[in-house]
Amino acid sequence: MNILIKKITIAIDGFSSTGKSTIAKQLAKKLGYIYVDTGAMYRAVTLYAMQNNLVSKENFSIKKLIKDLDKINLNFKYNEELGFAEMFLNDVNVEKEIRTLAVSKLVSKVSTISEVRKKLVAQQKLIGKNKGLVMDGRDIGTVVFKDAELKLFMTASAKKRALRRYKELLDRGDDVSYEEILKNVEYRDFIDSTREDSPLVQAEDAIEFDNSNMGLEEQFERIYNLVQNIISK
Ligand code: DC
Repeated sequence: MNILIKKITIAIDGFSSTGKSTIAKQLAKKLGYIYVDTGAMYRAVTLYAMQNNLVSKENFSIKKLIKDLDKINLNFKYNEELGFAEMFLNDVNVEKEIRTLAVSKLVSKVSTISEVRKKLVAQQKLIGKNKGLVMDGRDIGTVVFKDAELKLFMTASAKKRALRRYKELLDRGDDVSYEEILKNVEYRDFIDSTREDSPLVQAEDAIEFDNSNMGLEEQFERIYNLVQNIISK
């Protein structure tokens, strides 16, 4: 096969705030691949549920959300200036809103619902059907693209991850505390990895990457080498 046109699927899973999306975006850019942030899709469904009073800290109208799933239209639109695709919920750009701590606090709850997962996984499979794709999330290597040629599993200590996330939110001007972020990171780790449907687990054939003490450049170089090895075979 001509190495110039061989396209593969790259699945990047792992805990929240492990820097999956940063690496995934860089890889996609370098390879000329599509990048899909599946967390953004779960976040957008959560935002819809919040806007329609279907979910809060105390309540969750699961049946109503399931009934409303047909009304939830998710799309990615590439933003030339930013260099990545932004999330649109029913034709409204929600890229900024879905990253707030308020959404982070409820997204794991919404992500446990099988009907929600079924809808999003179907859309993800469709987007990636022609390969040439870097997709990040929690169940990409175990459920969405079990046959991905390269699977990575990113980890880092909860404290390191919370600190990264805290800095990101501060840079955006959000009013948050480090303790609050750490609590959210640990809470999401727990829910994401213990839920019944598609829990966050490392696929048997995934390569683990602990980046607690690894800079971005080194990570990228290592991962890009792995990709080159596969593509050139
Ligand atoms: O990647 P993220 O932190 O933006 O994801 C937000 C939440 O969405 C995460 O806590 C769990 C859920 N999620 C999921 O269940 N499956 C995916 N493939 C991606 C995200």
